[in-house]
Amino acid sequence: MQFSERVSCGRLTSEDVGRQVLLAGWVDAFRDHGGLLFIHLRDRSGIVQIVFSPEMASGEVCERAAELRAEFCVAVKGEVTQRLPGTENARLETGTIEVMVTELTVLAESETLPFGVSEKAMVAGAPSAETEHVAEELRLQYRYLDIRRPSMLENLALRHRIFQTIRSFLDARGFLEIETPVLTMSTPEGARDYLVPSRVHPRNFYALPQSPQLFKQLLMIGGVERYFQLARCFRDEDLRPNRQPEFTQLDLEASFIDEEFLYELIEELTVEMFAVGGVVLPRPFPRMTYAEAIDTTGSDRPDLRFDLRFVDVTDVFTDTGYGIFRQILQRGGCIKGLNLKGESSNLSKNVLQNEYAKEIAPAFGAKGMTWMRGEGGGLESNIVQFFSAKELEELKRRFAVEDGDVLIMVADPSYDVVTSALGQLRLHLANRLGLIPADDFCPVWITEFPLFEPTDDGGVTSSHHPFTAPDRTDFDPTNIEELLSLRSRAYDLVVNGEELGGGSIRINDREVQRKIFAALGLSDEDVRERFGFFLRAFDFGAPPHGGLALGMDRTVAMILGAPSIREVIAFPKNRSAVCPLTGAPAAVKREQLAELELLNLGGEDALPGTAENGDRIDRLSWVSRIGIATQERAVMEETVQRAERLALLVAEKAGDVEPMYSVVPLVNRMRPGTEERQSELAQSGRLLKSAPSVKGDYFKVAGILE
Ligand code: AMO
Repeated sequence: MQFSERVSCGRLTSEDVGRQVLLAGWVDAFRDHGGLLFIHLRDRSGIVQIVFSPEMASGEVCERAAELRAEFCVAVKGEVTQRLPGTENARLETGTIEVMVTELTVLAESETLPFGVSEKAMVAGAPSAETEHVAEELRLQYRYLDIRRPSMLENLALRHRIFQTIRSFLDARGFLEIETPVLTMSTPEGARDYLVPSRVHPRNFYALPQSPQLFKQLLMIGGVERYFQLARCFRDEDLRPNRQPEFTQLDLEASFIDEEFLYELIEELTVEMFAVGGVVLPRPFPRMTYAEAIDTTGSDRPDLRFDLRFVDVTDVFTDTGYGIFRQILQRGGCIKGLNLKGESSNLSKNVLQNEYAKEIAPAFGAKGMTWMRGEGGGLESNIVQFFSAKELEELKRRFAVEDGDVLIMVADPSYDVVTSALGQLRLHLANRLGLIPADDFCPVWITEFPLFEPTDDGGVTSSHHPFTAPDRTDFDPTNIEELLSLRSRAYDLVVNGEELGGGSIRINDREVQRKIFAALGLSDEDVRERFGFFLRAFDFGAPPHGGLALGMDRTVAMILGAPSIREVIAFPKNRSAVCPLTGAPAAVKREQLAELELLNLGGEDALPGTAENGDRIDRLSWVSRIGIATQERAVMEETVQRAERLALLVAEKAGDVEPMYSVVPLVNRMRPGTEERQSELAQSGRLLKSAPSVKGDYFKVAGILE
């Protein structure tokens, strides 16, 4: 069989009728019509029906065809014919023709499949795998079969086309595609690093890049002027539906530019990328400062597909007689609200009071929620009697209330609580009330982020990363209040409430960079150790520069309307950062650890959690295999202390009663008829020589909770 003659199943048309063709692909589906066998043959280009008929094929070919099963890989030769009128299949692009087979070669057989691959029913209206629900874990375990499904393959093809669009777009504008190292030093993007041990330099580690940030800036100092890369980034962070431990960024950087250059470039590129998926983005992309986004939507990634903007009514209640509001305002608080236009028939008093005010708003962090409904030209609710006519009149005016409208308000001494809770209510209500148009796309640039955020210990941390330029450089790095008032020259691209990308104009003045490190509380030694090589480059004429990175998995998923970024990644990890196909991450052989000198982690130290007197929170974390973040330690410590107090109390009350340790006491049992033996290695103590921790004759290991 000459594969060079092969033609694609999905490209055959009526114009090919009469042609002898060689096809190769997989058996998508089959139907036996007593002597006449119909098969959907599928390759990457699509599906065509092939027919085994005793009139065209030999008895031997027909016999072998009868043995074919789903996903057998086959090659056939035959003649393209027009289908008989009435037997066309409108759901197939090749549905007006079929191929009458004369020769068949089975290239590889397939076992019974763990799930159906076929998405196109052979008979109109019949169910197909498309409608079947297959557990995602199983799909990921057999990802190669999942990728055979045309819709999954189409996702990967679209991703490829978007990547090609990016390459030609940026190439045309003078950007060079340059690879940066994957085995490198830590890059500060705020997540934990994945570390790779070095064999050549025992007990030294590379870090996988969280982004190519440092290298792209070094490329600017290297005079590259315009760089891009479709870069793989690695971040060990808590997983969310739109996050993966490894993901792909379109990372770019340019010199001698300002924000406007990037807004224009990225807007044009984003419009082209979305067009690949048939989505027309509205231009120009609007801009919103961070402060305005928080003030009117409660989020720095606002979903602007629906209106529902906050109205501030703090000043309406300056002299209010309503106790709760008065106390909140006395504590410097604020009151904001939303008008849900014409939604009163969809939000009963019961729903507003018992679901939203009592349950949902508190779950979003608010202490309560006030609601009112426009009725009979005025406002009504369970508490309107506490407000003056003037206050009610002013509320009506501010929110432009008409009959049928529903007002909700959140008041709190903390501005952050008000905006965050009301922001979450905004999204919850928009979803519930069906206010989000499914096919709309609303991009927006969010600008002027705060440069720093406060930390729990009274210091500051970078909101973006420490190389972002501040809006002014004359600040005192020791004055926390001043630091928190600084804005950055950073920007995020947000579409439909999702952050697709972000970047900034960078610091190119070494003194300013040093001041930022000082503000972050990094000692000169820390800075030298972590970023010495980087800062050194700024001693040699660093040009002004800036850039951005777009999360490509998120972008492609959004263009496709995919429910998760896993749908646009060929081999993603699952929600627990595991690859169900390969089983990674996995234990490695002792010899490998020995070669890397990692058998005895940290030299003299025992494995975390195994030392008798080790930190008990570390131990709890290790034994339970549950990561405990620094900020969670206090809560965890308190919980353990409470459990300890309870245990002591129980022991006290129980007096002399022997505590029960285990329902099934642990004993060594020998198989009947087997003699008890002890290894010479155990007797001499050599067996446990390398054990990290030993108790009696036992080697202690961590318990595993699955
Ligand atoms: P940032 O950290 O904002 O910026 O990342 C840029 C974009 O990358 C995507 N992203 C992710 N996608 C999937 N899984 C993840 N775990 C994940 N983390 C981030 C997001 C995000 O907007 N070096 C800077 C960019 C710059 O300043 O030029 C950076 O990495 O879509």
